[in-house]
Amino acid sequence: MRLNDKVAIITGAAGGMGLETVKRFLEEGAKVIATDLHIENLHDQLGGNAREDHIFAVKADITNDQDIEALMQQAVNRFGRVDVLVNIAGIAQSATPIEDVSNETWDRIMSINTKSLFLTSRAVVPIMKKQKSGVIINIASIAAVRPRPGLNAYIASKGAALAFTQALAIELAESKIRVNAINPGPADTNMLGQFAAHGTDAEAAKKSIFRDSVPLGELILPEDIANAAVYLSSDEARRVTGSIFNIDGGRGI
Ligand SMILES: NC(=O)c1ccc[n+]([C@@H]2O[C@H](COP(=O)([O-])OP(=O)(O)OC[C@H]3O[C@@H](n4cnc5c(N)ncnc54)[C@H](O)[C@@H]3O)[C@@H](O)[C@H]2O)c1
Repeated sequence: MRLNDKVAIITGAAGGMGLETVKRFLEEGAKVIATDLHIENLHDQLGGNAREDHIFAVKADITNDQDIEALMQQAVNRFGRVDVLVNIAGIAQSATPIEDVSNETWDRIMSINTKSLFLTSRAVVPIMKKQKSGVIINIASIAAVRPRPGLNAYIASKGAALAFTQALAIELAESKIRVNAINPGPADTNMLGQFAAHGTDAEAAKKSIFRDSVPLGELILPEDIANAAVYLSSDEARRVTGSIFNIDGGRGI
């Protein structure tokens, strides 16, 4: 078991990548605080395989600092420590010309995809500093380095996520807290179709735009991201910080 008894908070736990990451972490022996806006069905989605004493579902809005503080407090109360924070929650942007992007759209995307990383990190770092160890993983996107037209706010939010990851990696190295990012390529989750422009066929776009843009010829699967997160959280990655892992089938080449 590569994550035996490590305590991990996983955001976006009800989504495609988040749920798979919760499952993989449980399989590897972790104790998981799974958090999302919608956690009502989490136990059913886990299919009864999870040990009840290893999973704790907490409803939280990652843009709300009070929710985040309460999340950290509940994690410590339940499991006594926090070894890993995996920031997976995020939202897409449907492809939109820049002149049509509203202030509200821009602010919402930056708040959920970027500000949330600041809020969760600020809340978890004091816990990790006390432990003199910890791992933070931010899910960004290969789109931040290999952009597509019309995803202006989304790409900006993920570029900031990468810069923030490296800013924290250097700041927290002396506290033995490792901070890394994963850039998924186009992944087979509900989110993917949401990148298509309004009025276009999302399912067709998944194939004609997204799958065909991956050199290895297949969409990324949630377990590909979950496996990378397991590695980065494990002691196998003890010398890895400030890294950006492209799990993208070669899309970033
Ligand atoms: N799917 C892709 O093609 C792709 C590609 C590159 C990067 N990503 C990134 O990967 C991550 C996971 O994406 P996914 O494909 O699993 O998406 P998804 O839509 O399946 O899951 C996202 C989850 O985030 C949660 N969430 C959204 N806003 C929230 C909030 N304010 N508070 C708490 N939870 C909130 C949603 O409820 C949802 O469960 C995202 O950060 C996304 O930007 C996805």
